[in-house]
Amino acid sequence: MSDPTRPFAAGPGGLKLALLGYGKMGQTIAQLAPARGFEVRLTLDIDTNAGGQAITRESLKAIDVAVDFTTPDAAVDNIRRVAELGVNLVVGTTGWHDRLEEVRSMIERSGVGMVYAANFSIGVQLFYRLARAAAKEFAPFKMYEPYLTEAHHRAKKDAPSGTALELKRQVQPLLGAREIPVASLRAGAIPGTHEFGFDSEADTVILRHTARSRQGFAEGALYAARWVVGKKGLFSFSDILEAK
Ligand SMILES: NC(=O)c1ccc[n+]([C@@H]2O[C@H](COP(=O)([O-])OP(=O)(O)OC[C@H]3O[C@@H](n4cnc5c(N)ncnc54)[C@H](OP(=O)(O)O)[C@@H]3O)[C@@H](O)[C@H]2O)c1
Repeated sequence: MSDPTRPFAAGPGGLKLALLGYGKMGQTIAQLAPARGFEVRLTLDIDTNAGGQAITRESLKAIDVAVDFTTPDAAVDNIRRVAELGVNLVVGTTGWHDRLEEVRSMIERSGVGMVYAANFSIGVQLFYRLARAAAKEFAPFKMYEPYLTEAHHRAKKDAPSGTALELKRQVQPLLGAREIPVASLRAGAIPGTHEFGFDSEADTVILRHTARSRQGFAEGALYAARWVVGKKGLFSFSDILEAK
């Protein structure tokens, strides 16, 4: 696999994207896409796509990959409609992962490929690995209590963040019966900060990931969009990076 941090070569005949959701993430992806060799052919927002109505055979004609950054309520309907039309997907929306098995059967039934992640930042994917290693180290030392915190901008709709839930899913089994508390903060314009800490009476150890902007998420989503072309099945972004 190629270096995921290296920009894609731009060029003629770039992959054709449909952007489902044209909020903060949709717009960041639209700005970056041409420099990464993609052509944005379609952008849909709630005004044009209430209930997924604008996702039709006609509107997705000539689209190679649809990229969804919408809302927890909209994402699963969008996935169903896009998959039924035989178009591959990248889904960055969070807050719907409790319906993962329902989505898996939609994807398998329709024979398309889909990559999803609560966090498309490559730094966060590496942070998950460091967190698992830290959990293994701290597990025998019961005087250290694990905890998770996350902070995001005031407009983020789900809490805790999908990233915090994914982090908890990965580290909780390594820490046995010690339930890991998760605290969420919504304020201002924070792009996203996650901490995994261990606190004892004597000291505190903290692993922290701080997103500086949305560009890292957009880079990862476009990396996944290129990767998913020609694939069938449901893949997490971690699956792709860990297989490299
Ligand atoms: N995986 C990652 O790396 C990553 C990174 C950042 C964010 N996210 C997640 O991605 C999602 C979007 O984040 P954001 O910051 O871009 O939020 P945002 O600025 O609120 O954008 C979401 C957009 O989707 C639109 N929308 C709602 N329903 C729709 C539908 N049925 N069809 C098409 N568009 C629809 C919304 O329109 P209205 O504004 O008119 O409602 C809004 O413009 C959130 O779930 C967030 O947690 C994931």
